[in-house]
Amino acid sequence: HWHVDNSVDVLDTYPQIEEAAELLKQDEVVAFPTETVYGLGGNALSDQAAAKIFAAKGRPADNPLIVHIASKQQVADIAANISQTAERLMEAFWPGPLTVILEKQPNRLSQLVTAGLETVAVRMPDHPVALAVIHKCGLPIAAPSANRSGKPSPTSARHVQDDLDGVIAGIIDGGDTGVGVESTVVDCTGSIPVILRPGGITKEDIEAVVGEAAIDAALTDMNQQPKSPGMKYKHYAPEAPVYLLNGSRSWVQSRINEQRQEGKKVGLLTTEENLSFYEADVILPCGRRDDLRTVAHSLYEVLRAFNETDVDIIYSETFPTDGVGLAIMNRLEKAAAHRWLHEKRK
Ligand code: TXA
Ligand code: MG
Repeated sequence: HWHVDNSVDVLDTYPQIEEAAELLKQDEVVAFPTETVYGLGGNALSDQAAAKIFAAKGRPADNPLIVHIASKQQVADIAANISQTAERLMEAFWPGPLTVILEKQPNRLSQLVTAGLETVAVRMPDHPVALAVIHKCGLPIAAPSANRSGKPSPTSARHVQDDLDGVIAGIIDGGDTGVGVESTVVDCTGSIPVILRPGGITKEDIEAVVGEAAIDAALTDMNQQPKSPGMKYKHYAPEAPVYLLNGSRSWVQSRINEQRQEGKKVGLLTTEENLSFYEADVILPCGRRDDLRTVAHSLYEVLRAFNETDVDIIYSETFPTDGVGLAIMNRLEKAAAHRWLHEKRK
């Protein structure tokens, strides 16, 4: 793990960190890499900065932002009545892709950041650039993913530029992000932790530390109202409609052939293992099935890449929902607006 005191190296490699910290102190908004996706940061104590974040993203005002911190001391400034469970999760997974929902400290954060809720989402990112930026400006930094609302989250500086060029004060390019899907959001205000958004830290990881964790019912039942405001929005959608295909490779190929016979251009999201089995207009491999972390890493890049093609329809393979597979399928279900095709059992 990277420590903020050894910030010399990262400041040498990324001299823009100093400038970004200055801009943040002046309530400007800047994008920077984290280990999950790029974030669009702004001073979490300032209404002016928060308003700029919502405007740049086109984000609905009822969707609160995650506050990013670089040290445990910063948590006490913004959160109150922190439970034992929350303490143990922060201890185990920070810095890292875990966001905890805590009771907020009254009258500290901008009301826009928390969308008027009594709780605050807090996370310590595991990325030297993000940590150095936060450490340098000395502020809690509100940072949603640095995409236009509704687009896939950005996993490279180019994605940020494609979405937000001209409307933000700057971008620090730290290369491709590692995890590739957003942090796991866990509500720690009740007796057992509840996963509101699956991400890089899995349910299995959390249970190994605190014994028991629940999953918000809205993640598995479309008729439930999600507890995390952002989860109700349609997200991550490429322009062509996405369908999730559950069946054998030969059945998938038949579905592709049917569409092509009707004159449609078909895109296929597949995996390295299956690449050579298919024929379609655009075939994009998204990691390897034998290591779902590689699928998470490439998912948004691949969804964005389909937008640069002229396909009329996108078929996607599906994945088991254990480990990070739960986060992958959560994002794919949203991209597909829950459209599934199932092979009929004989
Ligand atoms: O990995 C990440 O978490 C990235 C990087 C940049 O850190 N950030 C990110 O932020 O994904 P954003 O704004 O795109 O997603 C924040 C999610 C939303 O679903 C929002 O509704 C939820 O966290 N959230 C924020 N505050 C909350 C609260 N007080 N209670 C429940 N959910 C909350
Ligand atoms: Mg987002």
